Amino acid sequence: MSEPLKLWGGRFADGPSALFERYSRSLHFDSRLLAADIRGSKAFANALLRVGILNDDEHRAIFAALQKIDQESADLPALLAGAMEEDVHSLVIRKVHEYAGKAAEKIHTGRSRNEQVSLDVRLWLREEIDNTRHGICDLLEALLAFADRYPDAVIPGYTHLRRAQAVLWPHYLLAYCDMFRRDWQRLTEVRARVNVLPLGSGALAGSGFPLDRDQIAHELEFDSVTTNSMDVSADRDFVMDFLHAASMAALHLSRLAEDWILYSSDEFGWMELSDAVTSGSSLMPQKKNPDSLELIRGKCGRVHGSYSSLFVTMKGLPLTYNRDMQEDKEPLFDAVDTIQHSLAMATEVAKGATLRPAIAEAAAEEGWLVATDLAEALAREGFPFHAGHQLVGRLVLESVQKGKKPTEWTADELKAFAPEFHDGLARLLHPREGMKTREAPGGTGPGAVGKALAATKASLAIMRNQTPI
Ligand code: ARG
Repeated sequence: MSEPLKLWGGRFADGPSALFERYSRSLHFDSRLLAADIRGSKAFANALLRVGILNDDEHRAIFAALQKIDQESADLPALLAGAMEEDVHSLVIRKVHEYAGKAAEKIHTGRSRNEQVSLDVRLWLREEIDNTRHGICDLLEALLAFADRYPDAVIPGYTHLRRAQAVLWPHYLLAYCDMFRRDWQRLTEVRARVNVLPLGSGALAGSGFPLDRDQIAHELEFDSVTTNSMDVSADRDFVMDFLHAASMAALHLSRLAEDWILYSSDEFGWMELSDAVTSGSSLMPQKKNPDSLELIRGKCGRVHGSYSSLFVTMKGLPLTYNRDMQEDKEPLFDAVDTIQHSLAMATEVAKGATLRPAIAEAAAEEGWLVATDLAEALAREGFPFHAGHQLVGRLVLESVQKGKKPTEWTADELKAFAPEFHDGLARLLHPREGMKTREAPGGTGPGAVGKALAATKASLAIMRNQTPI
């Protein structure tokens, strides 16, 4: 085991206690930033060469050392074995010392870990944002394929969890596609705010060396450079922006999960989950439980917990950097893992799930979901909507009292109930008929849904193209 490197110490007569060292160490989690730290350090070495702090030999030695650490990082457990540094930044510098000798003493010239940690997280996070965006695209693809498997299926749509109006199955799935497309857009917007170079800000007051920050930004593929060094040291907005976007995606996933838990229950009975994503009971032999969906629903709380955890940590912190801010990484890492795994899990559930279209349609035919269709048909014929609403309401009341389903009414019986219900209206007792009137864009009319499906598929192709691999 080599002596741990401390990036400070000159001012101290005594070392830190063992307890404080253990308490403050972040290496066991921030080692996830190793590749980013190496990449950022290479760019910083290049910048130091350009301003003449490093000569060619020193630069070459440092670069070779960083290269070697990069190769060693393929076996991270071995690299970390016995490492007692405070954080990943100190670890990399100790290793550079080991491999580059004296030249390494200049690698941290004018650089602060405050800007370095911001740089590392930004480099790491922008890649994970892209991975998350890919996860969303995969889920969208699975939802669209699920829609294509049952293009004409009719299901009950709910408000207040009471049957409300019938909709096409693809229309229902497209609602979630819209949510996940917004999540993708939100992540894309967050990525733009993450993708700004903080390096060259020093601890808080700016770099004391004439670094060409634009050149560093170009080298590290950042779109621009930050404009205030104090803001850089103090800022974790970009982490919270991601946590907000991830929470929103997790929230959408939780609602999808809840719907499908209900729809696949015996009580609803019109969806079936595959064996691959369900579990049995240790006691009750008949059980087929939707655990995958319950976990997706549950993990939303965890992602949102990460968001509120960091939010509360940051609230009221005095400018600029405070060590509290080290508490950003564990929630961030956990949220990234959780949202990506949940997206993948939902994708697998969607791929294996099946619909029982006849049962869904029967449910849509039963509960007077056609009442609005009837009232609107009367209105189209000039009958005031309120009066039509009342009339259909009375028809529903009578049916409920007699235990009669909509499709059990004959055209003659309808007419006898009220002359306004002429023969042409009887066909509206089947939900498929009324649906045909809902062709305004965004509605569940078959034509509108066909167009929305095509538009969503086209936008998915564009999203895939715009997400770097
Ligand atoms: N591990 C620290 C963090 O994540 C790195 C920055 C340390 N800076 C400092 N001034 N102690 O925030």
